[in-house]
Amino acid sequence: MNGGKILVTGGAGYIGSHTATELLDAGHEVVVFDNFANSSRAAADALQVAANRDVAVVEGDVRDADALRRVFRGHDIRAVCHFAAKKAVAESFEQPLSYHDNNVVGTLRLVEQMAAHGVKTLVFSSSATVYGYPVSVPITENMPLAPINPYGRTKLACERLLGDLALSDAEWRISILRYFNPIGAHCSGLLGDSPQGVPTNLMPYIGAVAAGRLPRLRVFGDDYPTPDGTCIRDYIHVVDLAKGHLKALQWLAAAPGLAIHNLGTGAGHSVFEVARAFEEASGRSVPYDVAPRRPGDTPVLYADPSRAAAELEWRAEHGLRRMCEDAWRHVAASAA
Ligand code: NAD
Ligand code: UFG
Repeated sequence: MNGGKILVTGGAGYIGSHTATELLDAGHEVVVFDNFANSSRAAADALQVAANRDVAVVEGDVRDADALRRVFRGHDIRAVCHFAAKKAVAESFEQPLSYHDNNVVGTLRLVEQMAAHGVKTLVFSSSATVYGYPVSVPITENMPLAPINPYGRTKLACERLLGDLALSDAEWRISILRYFNPIGAHCSGLLGDSPQGVPTNLMPYIGAVAAGRLPRLRVFGDDYPTPDGTCIRDYIHVVDLAKGHLKALQWLAAAPGLAIHNLGTGAGHSVFEVARAFEEASGRSVPYDVAPRRPGDTPVLYADPSRAAAELEWRAEHGLRRMCEDAWRHVAASAA
């Protein structure tokens, strides 16, 4: 790939910090841009330790055109990985305007500044949430898009915006990656999913229970039409997901236009399977109660990742056991 740095918005967050680390490991120069709304400077420091490299870390908001302008003027940026977004589904129902402002206006401001500075290569973090209740599984990229929450609708709005942009100007190279359920952590234990407050996602909640910070897991429903009655998701190791971004950048170097890829393993695991795997990996128990179904949960979601395999030459490598071992190492390291 040509010289120049990669701007990683949201680079202090969970997936952004892992991707920045993989980019650095592969020899790329990285600029992290984050407002630390859901992360910290300590996370940005940790990724530099994990990668054993110094990185430019800029505190700023993607909705702030002046802050972005300074970054593009101050650094030789050639591509952007755009992670910065709010991502809590329940919160998005309470604060839809804040979600559209942060996620959609943030993406709009970013691509405006990219265009103004002649940077037209972008990898965008989308989500399996854009599919809503899928008509069938495994989910392919061509299936209908019908998100069922405001967060998902911000992701779909960004996808549409980027689609229009690519149509308007053939110089753009845009990769839309639809992530399934990233879990796990960097093998060093230095990086991981450390949400602020009580976790809403399964894996950080299980980690907090195993560490004794929360008393019991609440399993949201055991009466779904699945083998053990709990919901099935496509859990993917965050480092595998991060590596998908490097493959997407390689793809874009050879392929102008807009491409969409699912990033998942193609296999599903139930809530009970994840809890059991975590107990085995950590040696701790994860006591649970069965609670009512969580509104909006769909019984079974997993990806058809064959387009990413064929086009990006990317495949997830790590299984559930490894995801749990690495997640536990991070939980234990954070508690120490
Ligand atoms: P995260 O909250 O850990 O990371 C997001 C980072 O962006 C945080 O460091 C936050 O401080 C920063 N940020 C938020 N708004 C910003 C703004 N306006 N300006 C600058 N920085 C801002 O979340 P994550 O799990 O790492 O998610 C990264 C991306 O992947 C998001 O776009 C998210 O929607 C998407 N995604 C996540 C998941 C998941 O399960 N974690 C699944 C599908 C898609
Ligand atoms: N679950 C529990 N107890 C908990 C938390 C979750 O039983 O305390 C269950 C949920 O009901 C669901 C499964 O664990 O069946 C996974 O739930 P998560 O909240 O971890 O993940 P979701 O599949 O609901 O959603 C996540 C992200 C979305 C993203 C989606 C992509 O939160 O933003 O993955 O597939 F869009």
